[in-house]
Amino acid sequence: MVLTGSAGSVTPDHGHRGTVRRETVLVLDGGTGTPGTDEGYTVRAAHSPREPRPRLSKFHAPEIVFGPDSLPETAHAALRLGARRPFVVTDPGVTEAGWPAELLRHLRAAGLRPQLWNEITPNPKDHEIQAGFERYESSGCDVVIGVGGGSVIDAAKGVALLAANGGTILDYEGIDRIANPIPPLVMVPSTSGTGADVSQFCIITDTTRLTKITIMGRALVPDVSVVDPRLLVTMPDWLNAATGLDALTHGIEAFVSLAHGPLTDTHALHAVALVHANLPTTMIRRHDDGPRTAMAQAALEAGLAFTNAILGATHAMSHQVGGMLDLPHGLINGVLLPHVIRFNGSASDADAARFVPIAQAMGLPARPGMPGDEAVDMVATEVRKLADEVGVPTGLAAIGVREADVPRLSRLTLGDACLTTNPRTASVEQIENLFREAL
Ligand SMILES: NC(=O)c1ccc[n+]([C@@H]2O[C@H](COP(=O)([O-])OP(=O)(O)OC[C@H]3O[C@@H](n4cnc5c(N)ncnc54)[C@H](O)[C@@H]3O)[C@@H](O)[C@H]2O)c1
Ligand SMILES: [Fe+2]
Repeated sequence: MVLTGSAGSVTPDHGHRGTVRRETVLVLDGGTGTPGTDEGYTVRAAHSPREPRPRLSKFHAPEIVFGPDSLPETAHAALRLGARRPFVVTDPGVTEAGWPAELLRHLRAAGLRPQLWNEITPNPKDHEIQAGFERYESSGCDVVIGVGGGSVIDAAKGVALLAANGGTILDYEGIDRIANPIPPLVMVPSTSGTGADVSQFCIITDTTRLTKITIMGRALVPDVSVVDPRLLVTMPDWLNAATGLDALTHGIEAFVSLAHGPLTDTHALHAVALVHANLPTTMIRRHDDGPRTAMAQAALEAGLAFTNAILGATHAMSHQVGGMLDLPHGLINGVLLPHVIRFNGSASDADAARFVPIAQAMGLPARPGMPGDEAVDMVATEVRKLADEVGVPTGLAAIGVREADVPRLSRLTLGDACLTTNPRTASVEQIENLFREAL
């Protein structure tokens, strides 16, 4: 894998062309090392007059504890945040895998009196969040800890949000509608995909409208994320595949997002490289530490990228299918992503050129200055190839979407907050076409 050049070097012109500037550029050069390791970082000074000046950007992130055997650190993190009775959110699948029992032992050993709530389902539902909030209220708990996949983490955020702000979870759909600070959050992801443990997003199923609502706000960024790659080993293959493609989608959508910047670009590209180099290995050799840890890092970096740069049309469309059919989020993304890549990459030369560094991150024979449309084609083809390799269906029809669903899914897509940062604006007809192509 060789990945060279400034992540920002192909950014569409924001003015300032022709100004000779000096800036530091991160070069990832992993030509000789093992796939999935971080070998060969060098940093050089750049003097290119063609480098556009980066826009002003903000970057938020929780405190992160990362590495095998970090689970016990959750107790120390909770204590630092003032916990006495932590409210531990999880679900039946993660409970069966044994991780919450291990966590409870660590919490008790640290003198805490945890309460467990595990009554949620994947793609957590509005009424489940209400039930969790009522349990939290009656429990006298303080810090909220989530141990599980994105569904558990979003449910934990939803409970904390209601505890401090009242109302119902659906009241908070959209951007920055949370007025009061919420109880401290410590998140322990058990899948390598969603990045919800570092993100400012909370995705909940509206069971009346059969769609997934996006709640976004700085208040939802957890205080501490504890990433222990050991937890990933109990994931079934379908979940490993789906969540890996979710992380890949986060990396690609964040890199081409209208809100991307130099700080998010680096994480986005590195996440793409890590998923591409390691996801297939984790499907074959599930107990190998290296690829698992690399996938945990991929999910984390993709999360850091997208929580700051936001996402795009793949997620805006995926939320509608997930809300209607209650299917694995990453699997739907895996089907949609190649179609959205081709759509976004065909808007302009500058949009297409953004796919050159992505192709390089995937180890494809791309080079700066090549025709952007060739890079777009390479990336879309490679994403589909990876999806085939890990067993993702080729079309939405195979997972239950019908032609008759397309108009409604497309209308709802236009209202999703993730669409606002897609690099290409899309009309309802264009979204309908994308859904039909993906059927
Ligand atoms: N908030 C965000 O930033 C964000 C980002 C992307 C996706 N999401 C949301 O996250 C949800 C998807 O989360 P997910 O893909 O992580 O899966 P998930 O949390 O929905 O879990 C799926 C199933 O896998 C089981 N499981 C999870 N981890 C396991 C493990 N280590 N071992 C055994 N079983 C395990 C669970 O019990 C569950 O039955 C969707 O609702 C999606 O919309 C949120
Ligand atoms: Fe996602």
